[in-house]
Amino acid sequence: MRDPGALDAFSGDESVVAPVRPLAAVRARSVADVQATLSWASQHGVPITARGGGTGKAGGCVPDAHGVVLSLAELDSIRSVEARHGWAEVDAGVITGPFREAMEEQRLFYPPDPGALDACTLGGNVATNAGGPVALKYGVTRDYVLGVEAVLADGTKLELGRRQPKGVAGYDLARLLVGSEGTLAVITGVRLGVLPRPREILAALLPFASIDDAADAVARSRLLGLRPRALEFFDRTALQRAARSPGFPQDPAWGALLLVEFDGEPGEPEAALLRFVEGLDKAPLDVQVATGEARRRDLWRLRRETSRLVKAGAAGWITEDVAVPVGSVPELVALLPGLGERFGLCALAYGHAGDGNLHVNLIWDEPEAGEQAEAAADAVIEAALRLGGTISAEHGIGLAKRRFLPREIGDRSLQLMRALKDQFDPKGILNPGKVLGGPW
Ligand code: MLT
Ligand code: ZN
Repeated sequence: MRDPGALDAFSGDESVVAPVRPLAAVRARSVADVQATLSWASQHGVPITARGGGTGKAGGCVPDAHGVVLSLAELDSIRSVEARHGWAEVDAGVITGPFREAMEEQRLFYPPDPGALDACTLGGNVATNAGGPVALKYGVTRDYVLGVEAVLADGTKLELGRRQPKGVAGYDLARLLVGSEGTLAVITGVRLGVLPRPREILAALLPFASIDDAADAVARSRLLGLRPRALEFFDRTALQRAARSPGFPQDPAWGALLLVEFDGEPGEPEAALLRFVEGLDKAPLDVQVATGEARRRDLWRLRRETSRLVKAGAAGWITEDVAVPVGSVPELVALLPGLGERFGLCALAYGHAGDGNLHVNLIWDEPEAGEQAEAAADAVIEAALRLGGTISAEHGIGLAKRRFLPREIGDRSLQLMRALKDQFDPKGILNPGKVLGGPW
């Protein structure tokens, strides 16, 4: 496809990275299409950017202006479900939310639940090692990848991985591709582990008088010996901005809010919630249990909209995706008000605080605040690294966070990563410039 209007749909993602219109786009309808495209691109040295739902937050699927987008979205079949083995095989373009629902209908559970559930693809989730709220108890996409079907830069198809949880035959190439953001190979299919569906799930809102009280509760959750399925945090500013949407939980007395969820056998989630609340040093202002599945789903819908709601009407923003050891969440959160004042913008946080992963958003209403925001983003990254954390817990590096990567990864590790990239992609055609930069 080369129609300029149509190509715009393949030019960007949900990050602040400026869209780039590619030369052409290929909508693969079979693995053979992917192989043919890559073999042609390899012969002619044409950059290829693989694309799933285009919901990335780091510019990972923003193409090269002289390259071709290879869309996997139409490879969208669930190939098989093997409940007795505990896995399902899917095409890369299967949308994550409907896949999770299809598993639920079979009393199975595929945990990873990234924010863009209804639009992101499983192949994209694997390429970015997507996380989400229930990663707290159940882990991220990588923890469910048993096998990967991928096409190398020269068009060769590879079957990697295994069919059972254990397997140590050689290096784990399947999982090396997880999180590689289309720079090592193009993922066309995945074998994903699935679990039995938990029998009961209970969600509750716990508002706190102050951000510190809520952050302390997050830090304390582990010490109480409990395993919440999700423990999401919203600071006061995030709540205020999100409250523009009707129905978003809100009260002027709330300094911060936790959305906590437990699952298990009947009765277990209620008991766990009670132990959690009773074990906190600073009691929440209220315990609002979601009555019924409809209310629980509604809360999660609002949570998933938070990213969009807090930015509505703003002139610009930067979304950071740092994570710190969970006991250091209070220290990270404590920095935010000062940061906003110092750089003259709105600094807020919400996110998966239970595993230390906060989406710090730097938002401004004046167009010229961009430079200050870059400096503020730098300060957030520096703080996360100082606290022993990471620059990106789930959104990936893409283009948006590339400049920060050397601060977290040592020189020798970067060299090894570049050597790996060269082995997989000697001509440098696979999503050039993403993650590691280059050419080097
Ligand atoms: C989320 O947790 O909502 C997503 O990761 C997106 C984001 O807020 O940046
Ligand atoms: Zn998130």
